[in-house]
Parts: sequence; C-alpha cells; structure tokens
Amino acid sequence: MKQEPNRGLPPSIPNGWFAVAWSKDLLPGEVKRLRYFDQELAIFRTRSGEPKLLDAYCAHLGAHLAEGGRVVGESIQCPFHGWRYDGSGACVEIPYCDKVPAKARVRGWEVIERNRMIFAWHHAKGKPPSWEVPLMPEFEDPEWTDPRSFDLEVAVHMQDMAENNCDPVHFQFVHGSQETPPSEIEFAEDGRFFRIVSRSEQDTPMGKFEMVLERETWGLGLSTVRMCGIPNAGLLMFSSTSPIDSGNTHSRWAFTVTKNMADAAGEEFIRGMSQGVQQDIRIWQNKIYRSHPVFCEADEYLTKFRRWTRQFYSDLD
Ligand code: FES
Ligand SMILES: [Fe+2]
Repeated sequence: MKQEPNRGLPPSIPNGWFAVAWSKDLLPGEVKRLRYFDQELAIFRTRSGEPKLLDAYCAHLGAHLAEGGRVVGESIQCPFHGWRYDGSGACVEIPYCDKVPAKARVRGWEVIERNRMIFAWHHAKGKPPSWEVPLMPEFEDPEWTDPRSFDLEVAVHMQDMAENNCDPVHFQFVHGSQETPPSEIEFAEDGRFFRIVSRSEQDTPMGKFEMVLERETWGLGLSTVRMCGIPNAGLLMFSSTSPIDSGNTHSRWAFTVTKNMADAAGEEFIRGMSQGVQQDIRIWQNKIYRSHPVFCEADEYLTKFRRWTRQFYSDLD
C-alpha cells in the first residue's frame, strides 16, 4: 500500500471474522493453499465434512502442508515425512515413530461455516472470538433465489474499502447518484455492529414505494445491503472483505433476491452493485491511506466510522 510519509502508520491487519473460502470450493478431502492475514495457510475439509484451517508450515522441517499434503480421515498429512495433524493443529501421528513430541503442533485457526462461506477468526494477540458471524436466513429460504457470487481482489488496505460504506457523499461523485440520500446511523451497544438506513420514494417495476436501503456492518469484514419496501419482496447482498496483507484485500459478494423479484429487478440489482464496485476500484487502487485526514463538518459518518474501527486494531488499543 502507498503510504503517506511521516503521517502515522497505515493500519495493521484488523481483528475479526473474515471469509477465507466459499463453501462450494472446498469439498471433503480437498486441501487448498491460502494467503490471508499476511500468513501462509492450509485449509482442508475432513472426510466427515468439517473445514479446518492451519498455519501452513509443518512443525517438523517446515514443508508447506497444502503443497502435496492430503486429507486422511479427520486430519491432514504432511507431504514430506507423513506427520499427521488434526484440525486443532496437534500432531496425531508420526508414521515412523511411536512417540509424538509435545511440541509437534502448528497453529489451528478458529473457523465457522455460514452463509455459504468459511470464516476464520483473526486476532493479532490471539484472543478468542468476541462476537459471532451473523446468519443470513435468506440464503436458506426457498422463497429466495440461489445466491449468485463474485470475488474481487484489490490492491488496497481493507480499511479503505470498508470506509466506502460510510461515505454517503462519494455515491454522488463516484456512482452518479442524484443526491446524497438522507441516512440514519445506529451503533449497537456491544460496539461491534452498526446500521445505516436511508429511505427514498422510488418508482419500481411493481409501482411507487417508499424504499428502505439498509446497510449493516459487523466488524470490519462483514456487511449487508438490504433493499426492502415492496411487500413480500426484497434484495440482499452479503459481503465479506478479508485482508490478504496490509496492502491487498479480497472481497466476496453473494446476492439473493425474492423469487418474485428475480426477473423484474434481480439482475439489475446484481449488475448495479457489481458495477458500483468497479467504479470504486480506480479510486481505491490509486489512493494513499491518510491516517490524519482533513475532515469537513459534513464528514460526520466518516469521522464516527474511523473512531468505531479503532477497536478492531490491537495496536491502537
Ligand atoms: S516436514 Fe512435515 S513431516 Fe517432515
Ligand atoms: Fe462505492
């Protein structure tokens, strides 16, 4: 990431839940090499179907577990000398030695599978999860379409991507919106969550309605955009933004709409959201991170958001 000289450090890797894979991309018995949180990782799905995530390098001589490693039952076997690790990272067998040294282990990451994605908990100081990945009931509801997905990797710190959500003015300049819609912002008591709601009267394929655009955010990684207002109809975009390292970010998006809206507005919604992101990319990839920006009075959301995000960085504690 481009840095501003002598103006404070760019943010480090934040703490929280971050998607590291789509569920559909990891079948039982599969092993994949990943890079997130500025670390090499190996993810695998056990024969019984559980996703597991480990630090990549074997405790023995340091082979990369995802470069030739294979799933054996509920464990992963190192490609070099066959040591086997369970999902917690403990070595459970050395095929040519009866005694497994107590230090024979690698770090096992906390993971949870939800909303068609596999999430890992990252904390710079190794603290356990302090909040949960929210469940999107729409993804399992038969009245909603099968989610469509897309991925995006951008050379930007994820803080810059996340700030976009709290920057109503940029919608006008980057995305060509008519005017900045009036919004209400609400921070949850436990501090990990906030919601922005904007309302506007709109002509829709189903008539004129007061439409509600609701944006919710959990930590720095997870957010939703929900459009409601038409009775028994709705649109949902769920996204997870994950730090590859402090200069690169991987975003995953999943879209679903009620089946009665699929033909009329579903494609428009998906196209609108994905085109919107394309418009942001040029800004993101070429900006610097200002740790002490000059804010004006109307940048209220941005200043609030910056303050709120400090809780997710261990080095700003
Ligand atoms: S390096 Fe993994 S078993 Fe030897
Ligand atoms: Fe944007």
